[in-house]
Amino acid sequence: MKVTVVGAGAVGATCADNIARKELCTELVLLDIKEGVAEGKAQDMMQTAALLGFDTKIVGSTNDYSKTANSDVVVITSGLPRKPGMTREELIGVNAGIVKSVAENILKFSPNTIIIVISNPMDTMTYLALQSTGLSKHKIIGMGGALDSARFRYQLSTTLGCSPADLNAVVVGGHGDTTMIPLISKATWNSVPVTEFLSAEQQEKIVKDTMVGGATLTALIGTSAWYAPGAAGAAMVEAIVRDEKKLFTACVALDGEYGQKDICLGVPVIIGKNGWEKILDFKLNDAEQAAFNKSADAVRNMNDVLKTL
Ligand code: LAC
Repeated sequence: MKVTVVGAGAVGATCADNIARKELCTELVLLDIKEGVAEGKAQDMMQTAALLGFDTKIVGSTNDYSKTANSDVVVITSGLPRKPGMTREELIGVNAGIVKSVAENILKFSPNTIIIVISNPMDTMTYLALQSTGLSKHKIIGMGGALDSARFRYQLSTTLGCSPADLNAVVVGGHGDTTMIPLISKATWNSVPVTEFLSAEQQEKIVKDTMVGGATLTALIGTSAWYAPGAAGAAMVEAIVRDEKKLFTACVALDGEYGQKDICLGVPVIIGKNGWEKILDFKLNDAEQAAFNKSADAVRNMNDVLKTL
């Protein structure tokens, strides 16, 4: 197995680090446009191999896409991160051009690859990657819902005082502060609905805190998150290379599921060796479906901006 991570910034490097530690592939290519950065970080990570005991070979490169040839999976993290006070959507002008060119370059050397998109605004960048590569829809996966669902489980776990690992909880819809929909009605703690244990006020606070999970820490750090986004990307790579058939919320092309089409949006999917293999199209309650439709409208407006760039 060969995996490429494009963008050796904080998210890309963290994703690569997780992939190497888990030995998800024999060769891992880290690519960046900034001279020397990917090579330097690849060396730094390789120097942990003796300490951590992994065998994955990490190769860094300054924008030489030939090094990425025949990758089974490519993770795209390229582009600017948001700063405090910014929305993810404000990044579209700069990041759309970057993601389009990365996707096209990747395709030249790995025409059968599966692409995981992390760059923001993630839903629109996933749609753009699908349009610009012409790959099968099953091979284009946006990472956002996996991250947002992990953040949801974190918020639930701190209020419930339990392990996040004991919680099942998904966030569907867009990967934006106002477009994501934490489905608290469906969240469970070892199969018991969490709503059994939480007051209406607690539920409302958990949902709100989840939605601004990224913005809250961006205000604290001064730049966007990397540990959880990198780990979420690596978990998706793992599901593909190990053919896990694992359930994630991921941003994928909808064709009528959840009442939407011609859009990439976060829904529960099974991920395995073929990319996203199946959408779990279950019934949302009326309020959730209304929120999903509103989220789709917002993402569609953002997708329309692509035509003006
Ligand atoms: C976040 C970015 C990666 O939510 O979208 O942290």
